[in-house]
Amino acid sequence: MKTYALVLAAGKGTRMKSNIPKCAFPILDKPIIEYVVERFEKSKYVDETILIVGYKKEYFYEHLSNRVIFAEQIEQKGTGHAVKCAIHHLEDKEGQTFIVPGDVPLLTPELTDEIIEKHLKEGNDLTVCTMILDDPLQYGRIIKDSKGQVLKIVEHKNATKKERLVKEVNTSIYVVKNGLLLEYINKIQPNELTEEYYLTDIVELMSANYKVGAFVIEDTYQTAGINDNKQASAIEEYLKEKINNKLMLNGVTMESPQTIRVSVDAVIEPGVTIKQNTIINGKSIIKKNSIIGPNTTIMNSKIDEEVIVEDSVIANSTIGEKSYVGPFAHIRDLSVIGKNVRVGNFTEVKNSTIGDDSFASHHAYIGDTKAGKRVNFGCGSVTVNFDGKEKYQTVIGNDVFIGCNVNLIAPIKIDDDVIIAAGSTITEDVKKGSLAIARNRQEVKEDFYYKHFNKIKNENNK
Ligand code: UD1
Ligand code: CA
Repeated sequence: MKTYALVLAAGKGTRMKSNIPKCAFPILDKPIIEYVVERFEKSKYVDETILIVGYKKEYFYEHLSNRVIFAEQIEQKGTGHAVKCAIHHLEDKEGQTFIVPGDVPLLTPELTDEIIEKHLKEGNDLTVCTMILDDPLQYGRIIKDSKGQVLKIVEHKNATKKERLVKEVNTSIYVVKNGLLLEYINKIQPNELTEEYYLTDIVELMSANYKVGAFVIEDTYQTAGINDNKQASAIEEYLKEKINNKLMLNGVTMESPQTIRVSVDAVIEPGVTIKQNTIINGKSIIKKNSIIGPNTTIMNSKIDEEVIVEDSVIANSTIGEKSYVGPFAHIRDLSVIGKNVRVGNFTEVKNSTIGDDSFASHHAYIGDTKAGKRVNFGCGSVTVNFDGKEKYQTVIGNDVFIGCNVNLIAPIKIDDDVIIAAGSTITEDVKKGSLAIARNRQEVKEDFYYKHFNKIKNENNK
């Protein structure tokens, strides 16, 4: 018996005023739909996720192919119509379907499974997940009989004064038997007021002959949908605080945690200190006793033990044990920094490897470079990797000392045990053990100053 998850994500999300579809809006730098799809990948019951897309569907095809089955709703004619567009994928008529809006990020896999379990255990034909709200706002109201059978859902727009007093509301999360869904979805008629097909109407249609139960979800954050930027921000703040609290209780030190954002997928070991205004996102890993921040962004990167990173940006890269990055360094594009390395003030490292015990302490650019151990990049040294058309590689051996303001014009290879004199522009490979100097010899024209300015040299003073 198969369980499907049916995700409604065809809507435009007009109120976000964003050029990305609402369900792709980021919460702590991760698109809402990623939370949704991952939930079903982690669920014990869900076998297949069907994603109903429409508005900006290309985004979903690009980011989620191989993980979900797609259904398309070209015109958004309501939630009932959306489900109708996907039911041809429900091959197993004996199974059940978990229906959920695509804009609800925080529902956990555990609660998902609990809902499905209860649906099965109670022998429901349809389970409607509800919540109790002091202020029921625009939500659909749940109308029940005395035995707890759900009789119908009335949309706020269509509700009478008395119905509007009901505090139990629809979360838009349901579990339903496939055979019945296939049959009843076609019975839904367009709403008289809005001409939309309301999925909620299936409740009244089924409840006359079948068992329709309610599952009350107490943690309303788990059912919260995102309709505008204010709600997105509120959810983000809630999640941020939850993650930070968990990390702190697990032994991570945070200075001004309200200014620190850590993604749900980051792994931060106990003993790490994170200082203010720091963002750690994606699947970053920070190993124990490292100090990160202040004012630092770490994206999808691995930071080994006892590393210090201050006022810097590290993206898609790895930093080895006891290294010191910053202030104001930028390390990106799959760079690998060894142990005990210093990448300091205003240095950029792009798509490069730097071996253990090396230094690039100030104002260097290291791009498309493979550098060995104990390499010193002097202040202002540059690996010149781009000729305006192509990118080229620089290869540097171990124990190389590169003086200040050196240009290494790639493609180029510097062997082990080499010294490059300050101010050199190196265009040819340098052999092991050599000193390379590539600059004009200094010329001194004595007393030129006096001739030039027509002044007399005073031999006595100074
Ligand atoms: C819906 C419910 C309401 C419930 C509320 C909870 C209906 C008629 N009403 O109202 O009872 O209290 O959710 O948040 O179902 N969508 C499509 N195609 C469409 C229309 C919507 O895919 O044609 C998707 C949207 O992208 C969204 C979800 O369905 O993810 C919910 O749609 P929305 O318009 O937000 O429904 P509500 O009016 O909030
Ligand atoms: Ca909604």
